[in-house]
Amino acid sequence: MRKAIYPGSFDPVTFGHLDIIERSAQIVDELVVGVLNNRSKNSLFSLEERVSMIKEMTKDYPNVTVASFEGLLVDYMREIHATLIIRGLRAVTDFEYELQIAQSNHVQNSEIETIFLTANLQYSYLSSTIVKEFASYGGDISKFVPKPYIDKIYKKYNIK
Ligand code: PNS
Repeated sequence: MRKAIYPGSFDPVTFGHLDIIERSAQIVDELVVGVLNNRSKNSLFSLEERVSMIKEMTKDYPNVTVASFEGLLVDYMREIHATLIIRGLRAVTDFEYELQIAQSNHVQNSEIETIFLTANLQYSYLSSTIVKEFASYGGDISKFVPKPYIDKIYKKYNIK
């Protein structure tokens, strides 16, 4: 039984994230999308909003669940009996940071492995930060996030 977690801030979830969720759900038996409750980070969407947005988009995947977590990822994984971490790699700029997290998590618990999926070429430029930057100026974000979220994102910036 391969239980994996795809952790992240997902503020907001993008087409790039959803692509990784869809592809990794085909590789593992059970996938938990773990939304980080990061108190120190000022997020655009509340934890509840982020969880519910991902739940809505993944409701048709039978082996995907969405949950929030706090504190260390390795501790949460022990709690839910997951041993695999899924992360997406977009470009070489992601690599150094991701390598460091993967290796430190493995040092913390040697049963934990990280699997990297290369981002779909179509979304290799995409990040939540890019979505927020364009949205904050009223730019077109229709190629970045699912339709139901476009207005929700603009609303956060008081853009109609
Ligand atoms: O989408 P993000 O913000 O790049 O995701 C980063 C995340 C959530 C994977 C990472 O910050 C994390 O696992 N945080 C939980 C705290 C933790 O375990 N820190 C040690 C590894 S960085």
